[in-house]
Amino acid sequence: MLGKKTMAKPYNSLSCLVVSLFITLLQLITPSQQENITPPPLPILPLPNYAQLKWQQRELIMFHHFGVNTFTDSEWGTGHENPAIFNPTRLDANQWIDTAVQAGVTLVILTAKHHDGFCLWPSKYTDHSVIRSPWKNGQGDVVREFVNAAKARGVDVGLYLSPWDLHDRTYGLNKEYNEHYLAQLQELLNKYGDVKEIWFDGAKGSNAPNMTYYFDDWFAMVKELQSAINIFSNAGPGIRWVGNENGFSGSTSWSTINRTLLSIPNSNVDYLNTGDPQGTDWLPPECDVSIRTGWFWHKSQAPKNLSDLLEIYYKSVGRNCVLLLNVPPNTQGLISDSDVQRLKDFRSAIDTIFSTNLANNCSIKASSQRGGKNGGFGPEYVLDNDHLWTYWAPRDDKDDHWIELKTKSKPLRFNVVRIQEAIGLGQRIKMHEIYVDGKKIANGTTIGYKKLHRLEKGTVSNAYSVRIKIIGSRGPPLISSVGLHFDSFGIQMGR
Ligand SMILES: *[C@@H]1O[C@H](CO)[C@@H](O)[C@H](O)[C@H]1NC(C)=O
Ligand SMILES: *[C@@H]1O[C@H](CO)[C@@H](O)[C@H](O)[C@H]1NC(C)=O
Ligand SMILES: *[C@@H]1O[C@H](CO)[C@@H](O)[C@H](O)[C@H]1NC(C)=O
Ligand SMILES: *[C@@H]1O[C@H](CO)[C@@H](O)[C@H](O)[C@H]1NC(C)=O
Ligand SMILES: *[C@@H]1O[C@H](CO)[C@@H](O)[C@H](O)[C@H]1NC(C)=O
Repeated sequence: MLGKKTMAKPYNSLSCLVVSLFITLLQLITPSQQENITPPPLPILPLPNYAQLKWQQRELIMFHHFGVNTFTDSEWGTGHENPAIFNPTRLDANQWIDTAVQAGVTLVILTAKHHDGFCLWPSKYTDHSVIRSPWKNGQGDVVREFVNAAKARGVDVGLYLSPWDLHDRTYGLNKEYNEHYLAQLQELLNKYGDVKEIWFDGAKGSNAPNMTYYFDDWFAMVKELQSAINIFSNAGPGIRWVGNENGFSGSTSWSTINRTLLSIPNSNVDYLNTGDPQGTDWLPPECDVSIRTGWFWHKSQAPKNLSDLLEIYYKSVGRNCVLLLNVPPNTQGLISDSDVQRLKDFRSAIDTIFSTNLANNCSIKASSQRGGKNGGFGPEYVLDNDHLWTYWAPRDDKDDHWIELKTKSKPLRFNVVRIQEAIGLGQRIKMHEIYVDGKKIANGTTIGYKKLHRLEKGTVSNAYSVRIKIIGSRGPPLISSVGLHFDSFGIQMGR
């Protein structure tokens, strides 16, 4: 401090005046830089909230169905299973999460309780749980081990607590059972740290047709206890079911829908599958499917082959959805080697296809661009590594919209076209077409977060230009990323 003081040069007030006059003069003769900075366009509502946007970018998430059904070789239990059958010999949740990490998964959901009512954690409100099992002499807690393993690897967790409970005596009595269910929900959401997704279905027992689930109470409690959570159900409010368990979204796939037209469990599955361009709610679809035929592990079943998994990927992630892939632990309490290997192959195929963007060396131009040449919305932003908040935007006063890639050297060879919208400002595109050297090769409706076109007519080779035309949109289309890719896996498998 002292050194600085002695070094400071004594300015007199005259030189100060000269300097400030000079600066004023400079400001008068230089045009203001401010004028060149164009603000982003207005959003088109509805928009994703923070948690929904985070969820969408995960693309692939994982489900683990595990419980008494694993040991009885069944899909639906009875509620009368003896807890003594729950005895995984080598349970290792670290192995589950390692498998997920290798598959590129950042969120894993566990069935804390399935329809049979058996709880994988030591719930205070029932003894139909791990407490009465021989596993770890009744001292174990699968939910705790799962959560700890995920936390140690930076993976987020989600939970499923089945509303239908075939074991609990209060099931069918509205007040009593809803109290019981809410108590268990509070245990799970209070005791295990951050939970990023909670998964509700509306399954009910035929023995209690009048059972009413107090969803409003449940959802309010969930939001109170976990602020960053997404609530999944047939009707949201955070994420919606895609309407089937094949892992397929509609080729038209809006993240928007009218929640007032949805109910649990009886929503119109076609409406859920495609969404609604006029929808007033942002409620994006999640595609749940199992890697095997069943949701629980069965010795007799094998994982789907790579070709089937890629088909699912193109029809879920490639259609504006998140893929929730179920991978069930076996009776040992481990993910089977065959599933681990298949997931490795799956991830490696996705990485091989998409880590190279064959358009990267192309020159790119567009029909128009917002804010002019240096406005920050040029078409070059679609080649900047998928960043959601940098995008091409056309001028507001134009309605002919396209971007065109042109190879500067060797001709292009590809069979997958990837297009992504800047959904942070709303989902807009209703209809688009793809042209290669002036010839239409593909068309489609919505794009959303990600659209993958696998070219039906096969590989395009010897191409010099690729033009994407937007022919219908809810406002100026905003495109955050475009890619040309080559998928050799489909070809090897006879597609
Ligand atoms: C369900 O409710 C209906 C109408 O209130 C009633 O007639 C029926 O007996 C109830 N069924 C059961 C199983 O309680
Ligand atoms: C959804 O709500 C909007 C706004 O109220 C309405 O215009 C649209 O027709 C609704 N969609 C359906 C399928 O009813
Ligand atoms: C782009 O050009 C660079 C330098 O010539 C080359 O190394 C790279 O492989 C090219 N990328 C593609 C996708 O063609
Ligand atoms: C694609 O184009 C064909 C022929 O122009 C048309 O019949 C079809 O409806 C279009 N499909 C989509 C999804 O836009
Ligand atoms: C993958 O499995 C499906 C059945 O799910 C079968 O139809 C298809 O031929 C198999 N593909 C390969 C390459 O084995």
